Amino acid sequence: MTHVLHQHPFTPYDELPTIDFTSFKALPMADSMLPAEMTNEFRHRVGTRPLDMAQWLPSDEETAPTIAMKRELLRTRRDEVVSLHPGGEVVAQEAAQLVADFVGTKLQSTGIDALVEAALMVADDLVVMNQVVVAGVVCSPSRWRLSSKLGQDMLAVHRPVARYAEQVGGAVDTTMARLKADQPMVRSNWTIEDHCALFQPIGPSAPLLSDPSQLWVRMERQTLRALPLSGGSLFTIRTYQQPITQYVARGADKARTLHSLIQRLPDDVAKYKSLLHYRESLLAWLESYI
Ligand code: HEM
Repeated sequence: MTHVLHQHPFTPYDELPTIDFTSFKALPMADSMLPAEMTNEFRHRVGTRPLDMAQWLPSDEETAPTIAMKRELLRTRRDEVVSLHPGGEVVAQEAAQLVADFVGTKLQSTGIDALVEAALMVADDLVVMNQVVVAGVVCSPSRWRLSSKLGQDMLAVHRPVARYAEQVGGAVDTTMARLKADQPMVRSNWTIEDHCALFQPIGPSAPLLSDPSQLWVRMERQTLRALPLSGGSLFTIRTYQQPITQYVARGADKARTLHSLIQRLPDDVAKYKSLLHYRESLLAWLESYI
């Protein structure tokens, strides 16, 4: 078993927390990003919306601990969080410049080092594309490895995602092709996980919990922007998680939506989200909050 069970999101999945985090309370994510019901039938959605530039990569109470976690991962496990595809330096640097301009800081380095520098200015993970994934600094992976995605196009990147190709594959490619530099787009993503670590490049080999009330809701706020000089694009991922007990305490409507979304997940998608094992017990538990 590689996962070490703990409740501190800023400690890697395979390490024991070394600090006292008893007063830690996860930041509730903005209502506009929460799992929402769009249709009666399950369907992946592209769901990108235009975003005010001023809101591109906002900071909040979890920004400082997330950046501290990144700094530590870069110091101790750099190979697991930084990747560069041959020839990706120029695009990586252009992406880094956008982040530095947004934050109002000057970059000191070039190439992939500039992207690492930029990644420490914001809480978000940075993935640079140029038709294929060419570089990235990803410290909050939800059970995937950046290194395994290098050189892959969107369809290949999403191969593990059940029903991606048939439901959104084409629409994602069109969205990527139409991106603009001065108009960030935003979308969100959710899942339920049995471990809260932000840094979690793999899933556990067997379910970690028996009690569904100990699960976590994990949400990603993702943005997309074009890189005008190189023709590439920058994909950012900001990951939040909240204990499911705190999430459903936000209101019966939250529990109801989650229940309905989980109930209608096809088995292959539930399996991809590592939810199949928990589905029945989780649905029964959620019913008491509706
Ligand atoms: C409009 C753009 C995009 C859409 C609609 C989209 C959609 C999705 C969906 C539906 C999932 C499955 C997540 C879940 O339901 O649990 C997913 C996973 C993922 N996406 Fe995207 N995505 C987009 C852009 C990107 C980009 C630009 C990247 C860049 C690398 C990316 C990387 C990933 C990765 C690494 C995963 C996890 C794959 C795995 O499990 O190995 N996505 N995406």
